[in-house]
Amino acid sequence: MAKKINLKNLPSPVFFVLFFNIFAFLPSVASASTDEANALLKWKASFTNQTQSQLPSWTLLSDNATNSKPSTSPCTWFGISCNSAGSVVKIKMTGFDLNGTLHEFSFSSFPNLAKIDLAMNSLSGNIPSQIANLSKLTYLDLSSNQFSGEIPPEICHLTNLQFLHLVKNQLNGSIPNDIGRLRYLQDLALYNNRLHGQIPASLGKLSNLAYLYLYNNSLSGFIPPELGNLNNLLELYIDTNTFTGPIPSTFGNLKKLTTLFAFHNNLSGPIPLEIGNLKSLSSLSFSENNLSGPIPASLGGLRSLTLLHLYQNQLSGPIPNELGNLISLTDLELSDNQLSGSVPASFGNFVDLEFLYLRKNKLSGSIPPELGNLEKLIEMHVGVNQFTGYLPQNLCRGGSLQNFTVNSNHLIGSIPRSLKKCRSLVRFRLNGNQLTGNIAEDFGVYPNLKFIDLSYNKFHGEISSNWGRCPKLVDLRIAGNKISGRIPPGIGIGTQLQALDLSSNNLVGEIPKELEKLTSIIKLLLGDNQLFGGIPPEIGALTNLEVLNLSRNNLSESIPESLGNFMKLLLFEFESTTNSAKKFQLSWGIWIICPSWI
Ligand SMILES: *[C@@H]1O[C@H](CO)[C@@H](O)[C@H](O)[C@H]1NC(C)=O
Ligand SMILES: *[C@@H]1O[C@H](CO)[C@@H](O)[C@H](O)[C@H]1NC(C)=O
Ligand SMILES: *[C@@H]1O[C@H](CO)[C@@H](O)[C@H](O)[C@H]1NC(C)=O
Ligand SMILES: *[C@@H]1O[C@H](CO)[C@@H](O)[C@H](O)[C@H]1NC(C)=O
Ligand SMILES: *[C@@H]1O[C@H](CO)[C@@H](O)[C@H](O)[C@H]1NC(C)=O
Ligand SMILES: *[C@@H]1O[C@H](CO)[C@@H](O)[C@H](O)[C@H]1NC(C)=O
Ligand SMILES: *[C@@H]1O[C@H](CO)[C@@H](O)[C@H](O)[C@H]1NC(C)=O
Ligand SMILES: *[C@@H]1O[C@H](CO)[C@@H](O)[C@H](O)[C@H]1NC(C)=O
Ligand SMILES: *[C@@H]1O[C@H](CO)[C@@H](O)[C@H](O)[C@H]1NC(C)=O
Ligand SMILES: *[C@@H]1O[C@H](CO)[C@@H](O)[C@H](O)[C@H]1NC(C)=O
Ligand SMILES: *[C@@H]1O[C@H](CO)[C@@H](O)[C@H](O)[C@H]1NC(C)=O
Repeated sequence: MAKKINLKNLPSPVFFVLFFNIFAFLPSVASASTDEANALLKWKASFTNQTQSQLPSWTLLSDNATNSKPSTSPCTWFGISCNSAGSVVKIKMTGFDLNGTLHEFSFSSFPNLAKIDLAMNSLSGNIPSQIANLSKLTYLDLSSNQFSGEIPPEICHLTNLQFLHLVKNQLNGSIPNDIGRLRYLQDLALYNNRLHGQIPASLGKLSNLAYLYLYNNSLSGFIPPELGNLNNLLELYIDTNTFTGPIPSTFGNLKKLTTLFAFHNNLSGPIPLEIGNLKSLSSLSFSENNLSGPIPASLGGLRSLTLLHLYQNQLSGPIPNELGNLISLTDLELSDNQLSGSVPASFGNFVDLEFLYLRKNKLSGSIPPELGNLEKLIEMHVGVNQFTGYLPQNLCRGGSLQNFTVNSNHLIGSIPRSLKKCRSLVRFRLNGNQLTGNIAEDFGVYPNLKFIDLSYNKFHGEISSNWGRCPKLVDLRIAGNKISGRIPPGIGIGTQLQALDLSSNNLVGEIPKELEKLTSIIKLLLGDNQLFGGIPPEIGALTNLEVLNLSRNNLSESIPESLGNFMKLLLFEFESTTNSAKKFQLSWGIWIICPSWI
């Protein structure tokens, strides 16, 4: 209104009145604005030159008589937003390479500032306690910077905060005790810092909290039962800390919770039955703790679960049949516990299951044939248990199975046809069972296979040339079976074999000189067979070889000079038929004495 009046045409008394009014009115806006602009410029001046040069818009226009706009407003500057009165309400400079500190940021100059987003910059130093001056602040994100020191306890004065993210910094000290005063907080994320101390019980007062992320710190002590009061909580991540004591049974009140991650702590005691009340849960992990007692049958009521991880605890007793009700599971991991009894046949209901880990328990009975129905299975690990009986007939029916390990059980019978045809296999361990069959016929060609261990079973027959048609194979172990015949000259050609273990079989004939083509081989174990003849000089070409064990065969005593070429050999074990000790020198000066240390 003042601007529209042509001052020059007015009578002088009116002029004076108006003149006065203009000055009474303008400064209240202009000076606030000027204050804010100056405060921002002072902050800018504290940045590195590089950062300053990235902020050309942060400048006061030089006095220009013909420019009628106020020259001191920061409202058009990069990253700055103002309200209608021209006062700064938001500073947003995410991922802008800001290099500097907040030490020169004059918090008391921004009475209307509601949002600060400075995430993903290179800001360092402390978070100043004066941040408490921003009494209207609702949103603060200082994540992914290099802030260090403590979270200032004064932050708890910012009672309008709804969003507080300080993740991925180097903050230490503890979570401020009065955090419970931030009663409008909906989203609190402090992960990937170095915070220690306990979770303040007052945190349980944040009744609006929906997201709580405290993982990957050094927080310790008991988890306060008061967290069970956060009845609007959707996601709770307290994993990867050093919490001790029990999982509070009050967690059973968190009815809206969809994710509960408490893995990698030192929690002990039982899994509370009340966890079975969390009907909205889709992901639950208590793995890598010291939890004991049984898996509560009540977990079978969590019908939305897609991920259940309880591995690496001391859980005991049987796997409850009720778990078979969790038909949305894609990932079930119960390894490394002391679970006993048999695997419920109801596990055959998991139509979407991709990952099944039951290894290192005390499970017995047969592996339920129903597991052959799990068409989406990618990984199945049931090794190191006490399973008996046969392998399920239809395993890999869906053609997705990559890693399958059943080692160290008491399984009998032969390899099911479905596994023989399983072209998706990458890692395959059957070792340490009593499986039978002709090894020349029971295995096919696996284009992705990297590792196979068939050792210590009762396989017979000759070594198939098919192994050479597994182009990615790096490790082939068939020790401790009843494999007969000669070592095929072409063995391993077309693969990337680094380890070949054919020890303790009934192999006969000479060591084929073609082994020289296994140029990647590091470990070659042929001991305890009936091989005869000499060591082919060609073996000397295997310059990556570290372990060569030819002991307990019927090899002649001459050792080719070429073995002196081995640059990396750490172990050479060899026993000649005559027991005369011989020694020779490797090119790098170590003497090997044969027969060696048997
Ligand atoms: C930063 O810029 C100022 C003025 O241009 C100059 O005096 C100073 O040497 C510069 N500092 C660095 C570290 O380049
Ligand atoms: C002053 O304002 C005029 C008109 O807006 C503009 O042409 C001129 O460049 C300005 N001068 C300075 C020094 O900003
Ligand atoms: C920030 O600036 C300091 C001092 O100029 C420099 O040592 C440091 O490497 C810079 N940090 C980044 C991430 O650019
Ligand atoms: C700003 O914060 C400091 C430290 O918290 C406090 O001492 C001071 O009174 C505050 N100033 C204003 C204007 O609120
Ligand atoms: C916290 O970090 C600061 C700055 O990095 C350091 O000086 C202080 O010793 C640390 N305090 C603790 C208890 O680790
Ligand atoms: C945990 O946080 C530290 C920083 O405190 C970081 O270096 C590390 O990469 C984080 N670990 C994980 C698994 O994210
Ligand atoms: C758990 O406690 C043991 C023994 O006190 C300790 O060695 C281990 O580092 C702790 N683990 C975690 C994740 O806190
Ligand atoms: C785990 O719990 C058992 C008792 O269940 C206890 O004896 C053991 O010390 C605990 N281990 C750790 C690392 O806390
Ligand atoms: C299978 O095992 C290999 C070797 O241990 C591993 O690299 C790969 O990630 C596993 N595959 C899947 C799908 O986890
Ligand atoms: C070498 O092989 C023999 C026969 O398999 C075995 O008994 C011996 O332990 C092996 N030597 C070493 C050092 O592993
Ligand atoms: C070992 O080899 C020698 C000569 O190569 C042969 O006469 C002898 O029968 C062989 N012994 C066994 C047990 O195969």
